[in-house]
Order: sequence, then structure tokens, then C-alpha cells
Amino acid sequence: MSPVAETAPRPAGPSVPVGPPLLELRAAVRVHGDGARQVRALDGVDLEVAVGEFVAIMGASGSGKSTLLHLAGGLAEPTSGQVLIGGTPLEALRPAARAALRRDTIGYVFQDLNLLPALTAAENVAFPRELAGIPARRARQEALAALERVDIAELADRRPNELSGGQAQRVAIARALVGERRLLLADEPTGALDSATARDVVTTLRRAADDGLAVVMVTHEARLAAWADRIVQLQDGRVVGTTGGEMLPWGA
Ligand SMILES: Nc1ncnc2c1ncn2[C@@H]1O[C@H](COP(=O)(O)OP(=O)(O)OP(=O)(O)O)[C@@H](O)[C@H]1O
Ligand SMILES: [Mg+2]
Repeated sequence: MSPVAETAPRPAGPSVPVGPPLLELRAAVRVHGDGARQVRALDGVDLEVAVGEFVAIMGASGSGKSTLLHLAGGLAEPTSGQVLIGGTPLEALRPAARAALRRDTIGYVFQDLNLLPALTAAENVAFPRELAGIPARRARQEALAALERVDIAELADRRPNELSGGQAQRVAIARALVGERRLLLADEPTGALDSATARDVVTTLRRAADDGLAVVMVTHEARLAAWADRIVQLQDGRVVGTTGGEMLPWGA
């Protein structure tokens, strides 16, 4: 690492892509509705996110941020253009293979956590792995390892109502990265949290990227986006700017 990089006022982590592109959007367009009521939610977006890279997506309400994440996660298909994961165009996969890729490779974190209230933290994290056919014992081991990665291993047996907002969000992140997931998509994961807790969540995502995932986070807050390697600005479904992450003083 160069001396410049060592003294750069940004959080630890690679400032250049450390791997090949894991996620690629090529001229991705997504149109909703038809006729006069057509909305071009995404209007020709090119984006590459490498393994080890943390990208923040910003833009006004309605600019297409969630739509971009839905396409990236294979939850919606582009009207035209392509989405590639690990070099494979999603449209080239049969539905079963696409579903398996979505399940095994991609993790989602939403503002509304969707933790199951009757299950403990560990059970919530293990649940998608059990759905994926992993035996219960191994799923639990993977869940505990994921909780460890987000620093809340000691809360494994608590239920969601026994956790703080930030702890619950970290359970949701653990659930998104459990197993061999390689792409983490987070849509305003800090929206409901106070600023100190939001920072904990963002540093957890930062660490996930440093650990070798590709991370894409939608946020409205510049100081959270500053933890990313890159900030992509959307307007009316188009990328109107890309900047390197720059650390702002916390509380600024
Ligand atoms: N299912 C849908 N049917 C019709 N229009 C839609 C649909 N989903 C999104 N849109 C439209 O597409 C555009 C982009 O929506 P999107 O949800 O991606 O915005 P966003 O940037 O995530 O906004 P926010 O910050 O409010 O979450 C908006 O104009 C929205 O109204
Ligand atoms: Mg949105």
C-alpha cells in the first residue's frame, strides 16, 4: 500500500477493486406499465461491482435505486440490456438455475428486516440455508459463523424483540451473507436507525466487502455512502455521476 493510501482519511479497506466484476449491468432498462402510463424506472444503466468492492447508490426518491437492486438480484428482469453475475448473463440461465444462483450467491437486506419473530437470531440466519436443503446442524454452524462475522455471536439465542434495532439489522446482514453468498444488496438498510447505529450497520457492510463480498447499498445519507469505494448517483433512471468514496467526519 502506498503512503498516500495509508494516510488517506477513509475507513480501512481496499480503495480499488480487488477482484473481477461479480455484478455487471449492461445498458439495463426497466420499463413499468405500458402506453401513456409507461415509466422508465431504469434507463440504460451500466454498472460493474467487483468482489471486495462496496458501492453506494444515491438519488432522489423514484430515481430507480430499488429497481436497480431488484435487477441486480434477479428479482426482476430488465426490459432490455443485461445483468451478469460472475460473468453469466442471468437470462441465459434456466429458471431453476437462476433461482439457485439467487439463493446461494445473493443476499438481500431491506429496511424492513423481515426477521421471523418466533425464531432466534441463529434460527433466522439458518432458515434460508435450511430452505436451500442444508442439513439443520450444518445450517446452524453456518448461521453462528455468519453472526460471528457481524460481531453478534453472543446474541445467537435471542429473539428479534430482544434485540436493539442495530443488532436486529446485523442479524439481517448475517442472514444475507450466510453460507457462500458473494453479492450483498442492501436497500436503505439504515433507514429506520439512529445515526450511531446506522454507522455500525454500514461498517458491517464495509467489512463484508473487505472480506470478499461485492456489496451494493442504497442510501440517502452522504456520510453513510462515504464508507463505500464508489458512489453512483442516479437521476430519472440514469447514472448521472460516479465518485470515489470520501470519508466525511462522523457527525458532520
Ligand atoms: N411495479 C411498478 N409499477 C409501476 N411503476 C413502478 C413500479 N416500481 C417502481 N415504479 C416506478 O419506477 C420509478 C423508480 O422506482 P424505484 O422504486 O426504483 O425508486 P427509488 O429510487 O428506489 O425510490 P425511493 O427512494 O422512494 O425508494 C418510480 O417512478 C416508480 O414510481
Ligand atoms: Mg427505493
